[in-house]
Amino acid sequence: MVKKFFYGLLVVFALIQLFQPDRNTSSENLRTDLGNHYKIPDTVESLLNTICYDCHSNNTDYPWFINVQPVGWYMQSKVDRGKKHLNFSEFGNLTKEKAIRKLNEIDDVMKTNRMPLKAYKWYNPKADLSEQQRQAISSWAINLRDIIQKDSLNAVNPDSLGTTVPPPVTSTP
Ligand code: HEC
Repeated sequence: MVKKFFYGLLVVFALIQLFQPDRNTSSENLRTDLGNHYKIPDTVESLLNTICYDCHSNNTDYPWFINVQPVGWYMQSKVDRGKKHLNFSEFGNLTKEKAIRKLNEIDDVMKTNRMPLKAYKWYNPKADLSEQQRQAISSWAINLRDIIQKDSLNAVNPDSLGTTVPPPVTSTP
């Protein structure tokens, strides 16, 4: 009886492996990416890139167990949800109001220690941010928010707009 149940479970486990979640991967470096759209301090950019981007961008760096269901389904559901709330790859598409709101939220989740999700810290030890690291992300977010509030165009990294004027051609008369 117990044996039958065990084999049954094994078969179910084998079968669900056939249903792999869709992966969130893209190698495209969009102009609207937060790091292209704004100038960001390196320390903050690297924290966002190596941690937050896993659930808040178009490209997740997956652990091996994404291939093992139902763990993979669980992780993918978090990625889908996270990306819906905030997508750093397309941050440059946000209106001024939305960008300000998202930056306020980032400050908020850092101060309340709500991000990254607990389960994620379990496999990415780097994600267990120190007080100092959370402070750095918070300050950056507030600072950028204030700059955008004052002058949203001026906040943008000029290189990302493709409007950098080429140097004048000097013609010799
Ligand atoms: C493992 C996936 C995951 C990682 C990693 C992650 N997030 Fe999230 N994030 C989510 C999910 C899922 C939500 C949606 C809200 C929820 O379910 O709690 C969310 C929501 C948010 C929100 C919106 C909060 C709100 O009030 O709606 C912000 C801001 C945010 N995350 C910032 C971050 C930052 C900053 C990092 C990196 C330090 C980060 N997240 C890392 C999954 C993640």
